[in-house]
Amino acid sequence: MRGILGVAVMAVGLPAAGSATHAAQAPFGIERFVHHRDPPFFRALTLEERARAELGHEVLNTQWVPAGTPHAERRDGVGPLFNASSCDECHNEGAHGRGPDGAGVAPFALEVQLEEPAADPRADTRCDPVYGCVFNPLALRGVRPEGEVVVHYREVTGRYPDGSPFSLRVPSYRLVDLGYGPLARATIIKPRIAPALFGAGLLEAVPAAAIVGESGSSGAAVGAPAWHWRHGVRVLGRFGWQGSALSIRDQTARAFAREMGLTSGAIPADDCTAAELACREQPNGGSPEVSDSLFEAVVDFQSWLAVPAAPPLPGEPAADERALFAQLGCAGCHRPSLPVELRGEHGTLIRRTIEPYTDLRLHDLGPALADENALGLKVPSRWRTAPLWGLGYRLGRESSPTFLHDGRARSLAEAILWHGGEARGARRGFEELDAARRAALLRWLATL
Ligand code: HEC
Ligand code: HEC
Repeated sequence: MRGILGVAVMAVGLPAAGSATHAAQAPFGIERFVHHRDPPFFRALTLEERARAELGHEVLNTQWVPAGTPHAERRDGVGPLFNASSCDECHNEGAHGRGPDGAGVAPFALEVQLEEPAADPRADTRCDPVYGCVFNPLALRGVRPEGEVVVHYREVTGRYPDGSPFSLRVPSYRLVDLGYGPLARATIIKPRIAPALFGAGLLEAVPAAAIVGESGSSGAAVGAPAWHWRHGVRVLGRFGWQGSALSIRDQTARAFAREMGLTSGAIPADDCTAAELACREQPNGGSPEVSDSLFEAVVDFQSWLAVPAAPPLPGEPAADERALFAQLGCAGCHRPSLPVELRGEHGTLIRRTIEPYTDLRLHDLGPALADENALGLKVPSRWRTAPLWGLGYRLGRESSPTFLHDGRARSLAEAILWHGGEARGARRGFEELDAARRAALLRWLATL
C-alpha cells in the first residue's frame, strides 16, 4: 500500500506541476513512442534503474526453453503445460495482444481462464480441479496438451435510430480435444485477451481511497471496488479485465506460473493439477525456475512504462467531445482523471494526476458480455472499466485492432454498442446521437 503520507512532496526527475510549459504538454505519464521496440518510461530513471529496466525488458522478450536445455540455465523450465514461451508472444512489447481476425482456433493472446464458482464469497478464488487456472493448449513432448480453444462468431445486425446499420459479432467458445476428460459442469469459461501493459505502474500508484471512494462522497457511487479474499483477508484488486490481480507483481507471478509453466519465489508451483500426472513428473528448471533477480527486473520494467501518446491529428483538439463524453455518462465509469502517489528518489512522495479514463472499479455491463459456464449458462460477471488512454496509439499502429475483454469488438463503435447493464443509458445516448456527432465522439476517443 502506498499511503506514505507526511513525507515531503518533491519532484525528482519529473516535470514540475504547474510549470509554464505544463499546460501544453500531454497529461502526466503519456509519452511519445518513437519506436515501439523501445517504449519510454514515465519518469527519468537513475543509471541503476535503467540497467534494471533493460534487464526487465529482456525478460519480457525472453523465449523460455524446456528444463535441461544446454546453455540455458537462467531461462529454462517452460511448461510442461503452457500457452506461450514468452510474455512478449501475448503482450508484444507491452502492447495489447492480437485479437481474433475471425472464427477458428483462438490466437495466442486470447486465452481461456477457468474458475470454479465460489460457494463461500469469502473464500480464495478457485480454479478448475482438473485443468487448473488457465487452459493450456501447448505441452512439451511426452505430455498431452489440455486441448484447443475454438471460437465461432454469429453476426447480429442492427440499426441506429437514424437508420445507419451496424453489425456485432457474438462469440461462442468451445474447448475441444480435451486431454484430461470433461470439464466440471459448473466451471466458468473466461476468454480473456492480453491487455496493454502501458501505464500499469501508474494504475498501481492510484491510492486505494480514490478507487474505493471516501464514505459520504457522492462522486464514486456506481460499480464496486474489486474486493477479493486471500487467505481470509480482504484485498483490493486492480489488474486484469475483472480486477482479479492485486498488483503488477501478483499478475506477473500468475503469468509465469499459469500461462508459461514457470515457478517463481512468489508462486512456487505451476498450473499442473493432481489429475495431470505426466505434467507433474517432468523435470523442472530449478527451484524457482525464474530467479528473483529476473522476476524483480520484469516487475520494475512494467512499473515504469509510460502510456503511448496518440499520433497527432489535424485540426483543433475537441473540447466539445470531451463534454459530450461526460454528458452521455461515459465519464462516470471512464473517469478522466485520478490521483497518483509515486515514490521518487530517497523515498520522497510525488503527487500527480493521470488521465486514464477508468475508475478501476467493477461494473455489470449486462448479460450479453457475461461469461458462461461449461454447460453454456450465463454467470453474472462484472468488469473493470477498461482504461481508454492509449486508444489513439492502438488505432494508429494496429491493422485490425480488437476491443473488450475477449476482442469481440472490431471498432470503438462496436465496443460501445456492447455496453449494457449499468452502462445501458450511456449506450442509448450514444446511439441516439446523429451520425456526425457519433463520428466526432469516435474521432475524439482516438486522440486519447
Ligand atoms: C498466453 C498469453 C499471455 C502471456 C504469455 C502473458 N500474459 Fe499477461 N495477460 C494475459 C491476459 C489474457 C491478461 C488479462 C488477464 C485477466 O483479465 O485476468 C494479462 C494481463 C496482464 C497484466 C495486467 C495488465 C492490466 O492492466 O490489467 C500484466 C501486468 C501482465 N499480464 C504481465 C505479464 C507478464 C510480465 C508476462 C510474462 C511473465 C505475461 N503477462 C505473460 C495474457 C498473457
Ligand atoms: C457503467 C460503466 C461504464 C459506462 C457508463 C461506460 N463504460 Fe465503456 N467500458 C466499461 C467497462 C467495464 C468496459 C470493459 C468491458 C469488457 O471488456 O467487457 C468498457 C469498455 C469500453 C471500451 C473498450 C476499451 C478496450 O480497451 O477494449 C470503450 C471504447 C468504451 N468502453 C467507451 C465508452 C463510451 C464512449 C461510453 C459512453 C457512451 C462508455 N464506455 C460508457 C464501463 C463503462
